Amino acid sequence: VGPDVIDIRKLYAQTGMFTYDPGFLSTASCQSAITYIDGDKGELLYRGYPIEQLATQCDYLETCYLLLYGELPNAQQKADFARRVTLHTMVHEQMQFFLRGFRRDAHPMAVLTGLVGAMSAFYHDSTDINNPEHREIAAIRLIAKMPTLVAMAYKYGVGQPYIYPRNDLSYAGNFLRMMFATPCEEYRVNPVLERAMDRIFILHADHEQNASTSTVRLCGSSGTNPFAAIAAGVACLWGPAHGGANEACLNMLEEIQAMGGVEKIGEFIAKVKDKNSGVRLMGFGHRVYKNYDPRAKLMQETCHEVLGELGLENDPLFALARKLEQIALEDDYFVQRKLYPNVDFYSGIVQRAIGIPVNLFTGIFALARTVGWIAQLNEMISDPEYKIGRPRQLFTGAAKRDVKPIEQR
Ligand code: ACO
Repeated sequence: VGPDVIDIRKLYAQTGMFTYDPGFLSTASCQSAITYIDGDKGELLYRGYPIEQLATQCDYLETCYLLLYGELPNAQQKADFARRVTLHTMVHEQMQFFLRGFRRDAHPMAVLTGLVGAMSAFYHDSTDINNPEHREIAAIRLIAKMPTLVAMAYKYGVGQPYIYPRNDLSYAGNFLRMMFATPCEEYRVNPVLERAMDRIFILHADHEQNASTSTVRLCGSSGTNPFAAIAAGVACLWGPAHGGANEACLNMLEEIQAMGGVEKIGEFIAKVKDKNSGVRLMGFGHRVYKNYDPRAKLMQETCHEVLGELGLENDPLFALARKLEQIALEDDYFVQRKLYPNVDFYSGIVQRAIGIPVNLFTGIFALARTVGWIAQLNEMISDPEYKIGRPRQLFTGAAKRDVKPIEQR
């Protein structure tokens, strides 16, 4: 506890006072040793390691290991972990019948919330959140099966047969194959797209106490099972102010493009600055970063690589995004409020170039964030001081009064 932090539990015990802090602007909900963000410097560390080093020197499974167990794996630990994960990439065959209950045009996040929640009905040996062995096997299952579930939700939506996992491929490579292969032709994983997918996973793996992570912690604090807690995180992530922002950002870029493209940026920015319009510049601004989101820089780099590989260097949406960023960064409205691009500003363009449909972007985010949610859940449950989360309220309703007989109301 630093010098500017009050332990409110002690204050409450001594005085009965509590704080009113809507949106948790100045309230730490927990202590955590997993992810550190310095919003003013634009710095992000997982277990002390800068995100730039992890994104360029490690792969997603190493990052998962780091987030879960606190240290980067050595070669043997990495191989063992990868083997354990790949043992669980298949989902229970019955789950495809559960999936079939959805309309084919259901939003993939609606499907995913249901599928992840339903895992507790299929894997009974990993539902006791207070049992470390159950939590461990639930963690491995969730990390292993999320790509399979996301790809199944996609294939179901487009009416194509599911592609079963291939365990000789990398985590990202296997995901790309389950998404884009068909039984009719051979599918080769493109290493540039594989690396880009892996980087998207690393950049989204954890981000301390954001809305969905706090939801997972709060949900898990009641002692519910790990699958239910992660399903709550998926549901929370769906919102456009959180994980849904990448989808909303791409829709926004397409809207500006339809208005007339680069020429119309000024008009769009004017609308954003008009508070009555209710329009925000999606992919801009962050509760914690008051500087450039370091993930946005890495994502912009990946955007160049992917578009170059696919011969899409002149992609009009990328050009539009870059111009929009440049104009916003020079505009007093954004400068004064310290609004910079966040990770979602470029991730949509990368995913769209890879061939991922816009409505699946948040599902990919959920896939990647699953490890962070689990690591945070484990940290909370392993803390001997953990209690059920139970926020207080400032009551603003009616004073005590008596019920009148119905004829007198
Ligand atoms: N466009 C225009 N104005 C904005 C934006 C934006 N994207 N973001 C914040 N502002 C303005 C607000 O209107 C407010 O202005 P005011 O002081 O004149 O009233 C000021 O900046 C502060 O904004 P808040 O909403 O108070 O900031 P908060 O920390 O609550 O919100 C949030 C953060 C939700 C991310 C916000 O910046 C936003 O809506 N951004 C767009 C959505 C987005 O990209 N979300 C992704 C977040 S990253 C992630 O989840 C992976």
